[in-house]
Amino acid sequence: MTQHPPTTGPSDSSSVPPSTTDSTPDDTADATQHPSAVARNALDEARQRTLALVDAVPDEDLVAQHSRLMSPLVWDLAHIANQEDLWIVRQAGHRPGLRPDLDPLYDAFQHPRADRPSLPLLCPSEARQYAAVVREETWAVLAEADTTPASPDPLLADAFVFGMLAQHEQQHAETMLATHQLRKGPPVLAAPTPPAATGPHRLPRDVYIPPGAFVMGTSTAPWALDNERPHHTVDVPGYWLDTTPVTNGAYQEFIEAGGYQDPRWWTREGWQHVQKAKLQAPLFWFRDAGQWTRRRFGHIEPVSANEPVMHVCWYEANADARWTGRRLPTEQEWEKAARYDPEHRPLTALSLGRY
Ligand SMILES: [Fe+2]
Repeated sequence: MTQHPPTTGPSDSSSVPPSTTDSTPDDTADATQHPSAVARNALDEARQRTLALVDAVPDEDLVAQHSRLMSPLVWDLAHIANQEDLWIVRQAGHRPGLRPDLDPLYDAFQHPRADRPSLPLLCPSEARQYAAVVREETWAVLAEADTTPASPDPLLADAFVFGMLAQHEQQHAETMLATHQLRKGPPVLAAPTPPAATGPHRLPRDVYIPPGAFVMGTSTAPWALDNERPHHTVDVPGYWLDTTPVTNGAYQEFIEAGGYQDPRWWTREGWQHVQKAKLQAPLFWFRDAGQWTRRRFGHIEPVSANEPVMHVCWYEANADARWTGRRLPTEQEWEKAARYDPEHRPLTALSLGRY
């Protein structure tokens, strides 16, 4: 959360130096490897995750619709393969493709999620097979492709189309995780226990980001999508920004203070949403013997006070921010802070992960 700069900062705050304005982000997927190798690794990683999410449940769960908000998992799997068939095999590879006849069936724009279970979808074994044979064809295209930055084909230069499809598959991993979260039944996914806290927090609550321009977006990151291009200079007034996400513990204070019952903290649309959805707490939270408890991927567990709050929508995050006397950061404020690199300032790539 953020707030406009006070004349004097709070005692638990610190300031970071301003970034200069004349830099151009030089963010590459991985400057030390050939683009084809980077692409192959990214596609491999994405597929491992996809198959882990698919293989975790029996076939009847793959074809079931766990929520009208979501597709059956088997739709995601075949859609991932179909997009790869379309963009890598046919568009970039100029090959006939494996199943062009499936394009309309797996076109997300043609069929709302709620309608997808009634479509004549590939069954789980057919979808797995389709994904596997498309991937083999992808490797053949990649082996022949000129993926150097100088390639005359914009789909192949810097392995763009391969990166695009790896990112597309990663995005569907997020979608499939949402489906898993909405699925009823015993847990099938498990994550390692997060590391224990190492001691008292050393970060100040927030930092002051001085006013000034920064370079937003990119013109050079090879796999950046068009909505991140081109890079452009944005002048941002000074602001304070929290150094850590809002925790479950902090969010509980908003709940206990009656935040969900007080329209003062909500936008008009947000208040309507809270009432219509009968929200009293983040989705998947409930009280058990006086303790906040949650269902996460089928696991019933106490809400951990130190973890970042999850499963709140923008309306809830905005209301909580207003209750604390703050506000949510704008996209420009967030990106300016996220791009700051104390070692290589003013800054290179977004430090928010590779995708
Ligand atoms: Fe998609």
